[in-house]
Amino acid sequence: MVIMMMMKTKMKKHHLLSLSLLMLLCYTTTVSAQTPAPSPSSAPTDIIRILKKAGGFTTLIRLLTTTQVSTQINAQLLNSNNGLTLFAPNDNSFQSLKPGFLNSLNDQQKNELIQFHVLPTFVSISNFDTLSNPVRTQAGDDPDRLALNITSSGNQVNLTTGVVNTTVGGSVYSDHQLAIYQVDKVLLPRDFFVPKPPPPAPAPAKAKASSAKTSTDGPASADSHSAATNLKLKIWFSLAVAAAAVFSLSP
Ligand SMILES: *[C@@H]1O[C@H](CO)[C@@H](O)[C@H](O)[C@H]1NC(C)=O
Ligand SMILES: *[C@@H]1O[C@H](CO)[C@@H](O)[C@H](O)[C@H]1NC(C)=O
Ligand SMILES: *[C@@H]1O[C@H](CO)[C@@H](O)[C@H](O)[C@H]1NC(C)=O
Repeated sequence: MVIMMMMKTKMKKHHLLSLSLLMLLCYTTTVSAQTPAPSPSSAPTDIIRILKKAGGFTTLIRLLTTTQVSTQINAQLLNSNNGLTLFAPNDNSFQSLKPGFLNSLNDQQKNELIQFHVLPTFVSISNFDTLSNPVRTQAGDDPDRLALNITSSGNQVNLTTGVVNTTVGGSVYSDHQLAIYQVDKVLLPRDFFVPKPPPPAPAPAKAKASSAKTSTDGPASADSHSAATNLKLKIWFSLAVAAAAVFSLSP
């Protein structure tokens, strides 16, 4: 039991190690691919400025600002080569939410809601069919609670979260790095509507459960282990005594 758990942890470590190696590899590849330094172009991209200029995104702008996701997005655009895609619900979309819905969300949920509208890569309108479902958003990749499925055909792009179906209503902004598409509804993740497992978050809860199990098993198996060791020692000791006796008998 103990050994199996140790092996599991080892395997996990091994996975983590290969994952980080892979990430390092990807990183170095992208860095070297990007060697010709990005052209010292104009001012860095500012998502809020772009949305203000487009107009009709007051609520989204407020949420991006209060959650500080806008700052994060601007930083990501500066520091990453993958670009970003934002699905931008306009003010009408927010108005058609259930009254009081936004206010019912805590800060962490507001953050999740906004991150759920952001893809960590630049996707041009003709490339949505290259994504595989569920598409990973910046809210996380829980395939059940945070699924975002995108189907497209030509310029028609449909999105579903399991709670909300909507379509891309048009492109608001696109450069080589950032794509913003207007969507007709706020993308609500299933996470807000399916009952939560007992607190805290699912992953730590699991880890706790198994470590709790280990600690209850632990002393018991340690005891039986040391008992076995004691027994072995006793046997060896008696054998040694017996052997010594035999030797001392033979002159
Ligand atoms: C998108 O949804 C509409 C209506 O829900 C449907 O008629 C259309 O076939 C869908 N298109 C794609 C590409 O899934
Ligand atoms: C999203 O797509 C995956 C893979 O096709 C599917 O298993 C899942 O049920 C879909 N979820 C929703 C909400 O459509
Ligand atoms: C979304 O679309 C799917 C399939 O097109 C449909 O089964 C589902 O009921 C729709 N959900 C909502 C919330 O409209």
